[in-house]
Amino acid sequence: MNNLNETAKALVAPGKGLLAADESLHTADKRLTEYGIEAGPEMRRQYRNLFLAASGAEQHLSGVILFEETLGQTADDGTAFPALLKAHGIVPGIKVDKGTEAMAESQDELITNGLIGLAERLVSYRAQGARFTKWRAVIRIDGDRLPTNHALLENAKRLASYAHIAQEAGLVPILEPEVLLGGNHSRLRAKEVITETLKAVFAAVEDQAVDRTAVLVKTAMALSGSESGKKDTPEEVAESTLEALIAAVPKEVPGIVFLSGGQSADQATDNLRAIALRAKEMDAPWPLTFSYARALQGEALALWQGKSEHIAAAQEAFISRLAKVAAASEGR
Ligand code: G3H
Repeated sequence: MNNLNETAKALVAPGKGLLAADESLHTADKRLTEYGIEAGPEMRRQYRNLFLAASGAEQHLSGVILFEETLGQTADDGTAFPALLKAHGIVPGIKVDKGTEAMAESQDELITNGLIGLAERLVSYRAQGARFTKWRAVIRIDGDRLPTNHALLENAKRLASYAHIAQEAGLVPILEPEVLLGGNHSRLRAKEVITETLKAVFAAVEDQAVDRTAVLVKTAMALSGSESGKKDTPEEVAESTLEALIAAVPKEVPGIVFLSGGQSADQATDNLRAIALRAKEMDAPWPLTFSYARALQGEALALWQGKSEHIAAAQEAFISRLAKVAAASEGR
């Protein structure tokens, strides 16, 4: 179990963070189409290559979360993607949940699937080079109506079951209960829901004898809902986010990473910087860093447009954003 703690700590090493390159096939195709790029397996491979083979990324990336398809694909030079990452000192990880479906008892809420056959899948992911995993639960806010307690508890139970299975398989679990940005709720409501969600997760972690020194938490920041018309200052986001984390996340947890959740690249950078600064002032017990997908990839995808002649400019934009986000994770 000690090795898992070491891997978890390495993933949140100072000045480094994660690239979440784990969009499902459907989401990856959607992302490509949004930027006018043809969808399909070969363009998805080229899309992954753009980011995973970008020279210099290793200065700022501790790990990359991959989707199952990418774990078995090769970079342009023929190297398997996990081997390419490993050669650069970046730890390969894998998203292991099978996505969400509406809850039978609460049709406006989602439950995440993927526990059936998980232990067997983890054996082969590990053999392919993965050293950590991610499971994403989705929590929706709708005023005081949602989330229901039922959705929080059921998702928390599955997150803890997954974490137990991942640790048994020798892989660090990232527990990601994403509280969605969509809605017209206040930042304080987001803070309250993030707190309740993470408390439910850590109660389930306790129940299921998960080693909390060998997990990472991936969370949204506490932000006003995207339809609220309110724009929070980075200092407000930092204060509310840290209040939620301090209330709910045990100090033994080796690190916390943030998703960007639909924030612009600049917002996700500025808010992370404010969180890092406030965390230092408060002497927060865990390292905090990024695990972004959209905020790290959006600018590069817009430049790339699926064309080989744009690869260099797109990779430059990616590295430039990555450097800014990594600096922000240290409060710079
Ligand atoms: O599950 C969500 C992803 O890992 C992070 O994506 O930064 O685009 O929210 P995002």
